[in-house]
Amino acid sequence: MLSHHLPPMLPLLLFIAHVIATATAEPPLRPGYYSESCPQAESTVRKVIKQAMIREPRSGASVMRLQFHDCFVNGCDGSLLLDDTPDMLGEKLSLSNINSLRSYEVVDEVKEALESVCPGVVSCADIIIMASRDAVALSGGPNWEVKLGRLDSLTASQEDADNIMPSPRANSSYLIDLFSKYNLSVKDLVALSGSHSIGKGRCFSIVFRLYNQSGSGRPDPTIEPKFRKKLDKLCPLGGDGNVTGDLDATPQVFDNQYFKDLVNGRGFLNSDQTLFTFEQTRGYVKQFSADQEEFFKAFVDGMVRMGDLQSGRPGEIRKNCRVANSRQPELMSDAWRKRKYM
Ligand code: HEM
Ligand SMILES: *[C@@H]1O[C@H](CO)[C@@H](O)[C@H](O)[C@H]1NC(C)=O
Ligand SMILES: *[C@@H]1O[C@H](CO)[C@@H](O)[C@H](O)[C@H]1NC(C)=O
Ligand SMILES: *[C@@H]1O[C@H](CO)[C@@H](O)[C@H](O)[C@H]1NC(C)=O
Ligand SMILES: *[C@@H]1O[C@H](CO)[C@@H](O)[C@H](O)[C@H]1NC(C)=O
Repeated sequence: MLSHHLPPMLPLLLFIAHVIATATAEPPLRPGYYSESCPQAESTVRKVIKQAMIREPRSGASVMRLQFHDCFVNGCDGSLLLDDTPDMLGEKLSLSNINSLRSYEVVDEVKEALESVCPGVVSCADIIIMASRDAVALSGGPNWEVKLGRLDSLTASQEDADNIMPSPRANSSYLIDLFSKYNLSVKDLVALSGSHSIGKGRCFSIVFRLYNQSGSGRPDPTIEPKFRKKLDKLCPLGGDGNVTGDLDATPQVFDNQYFKDLVNGRGFLNSDQTLFTFEQTRGYVKQFSADQEEFFKAFVDGMVRMGDLQSGRPGEIRKNCRVANSRQPELMSDAWRKRKYM
């Protein structure tokens, strides 16, 4: 009888189960992962991102930001990209993401291009990692080799995103603690914040510091006065929170201008400016403002380390980045055609 044989086999079965579980849950990441299964993968991603940035330069920044918001919430697993369903509230709805993250459609375009050259091979999680690297490289920043081989999550959690993603009000010491939970150092935090060298932020994210910093009824005193006048004009009290301003003085060029701006009290977000006002991070801000190569090196290190974050949960190669494969049939329905996220 089977049951008679089970006990002696149990350790072996457990071992095999463990190997299978770890193999599916946490694949080892490596450069050139698709070199045989899809040799055109990386050049295809680069081509689509390049076209998107010609169409709309800001889309590079918007796509790059997706890596941060994907990787910090249960690892770099494409969970961010899942649209919500009747029984799952996804990450797109969370406070830091709604009306803020954008260019999901660029990821869709990359996925479509990859599905036509190698169907079912390249994960959406890896697309985010490649596209982020490409956006930085195409903006004049460093280029680097990315590790690939991630799987896409089966689910997403709005609640996890709400609990994890930091507010623009956050200060340097809060961010140091947050990043340390991911084994990311103080240097990683400052270098990765240098991603704000490209892109824009909304008035919604800064009005509190313009008019009521920490509930004081006063503006943040660390904002340089001329810059504050400019921001006041852009974001008047009670004005449209969706109006956007540049995150640094050269918002289409990935360079160390962001750090020069911080040194001059011209950081856009509170979380940016406190990197200079707080002593624990000021040294790196000064260093990166004076040495762009040093910034680039630290940024690449940080992006690779952030890209290593994995959930250890089971995954798949999604056919469509917005929908888990088990729900693919719904793709053909009206719900899909009327998708609510741009
Ligand atoms: C350190 C903590 C961070 C905080 C508190 C933060 C917060 C923000 C906020 C509030 C915005 C503007 C959103 C809006 O107003 O709608 C923004 C934009 C942006 N963030 Fe971060 N961020 C952080 C780290 C990062 C990291 C690590 C990356 C990528 C590696 C990143 C990439 C970007 C980019 C590229 C934009 C501009 C996006 C666009 O123009 O669409 N951020 N961030
Ligand atoms: C930084 O932010 C944390 C969390 O909001 C807060 O508890 C702390 O008092 C702040 N630190 C300083 C020095 O403002
Ligand atoms: C951080 O590093 C420690 C020690 O190497 C490890 O146990 C832990 O799982 C790591 N945490 C993350 C989020 O990677
Ligand atoms: C400023 O913030 C504090 C605390 O959040 C609040 O009590 C106060 O009403 C705010 N003042 C203004 C002018 O909005
Ligand atoms: C920004 O626009 C969205 C969509 O049109 C709207 O729902 C939201 O309330 C606006 N947000 C702010 C802060 O004004």
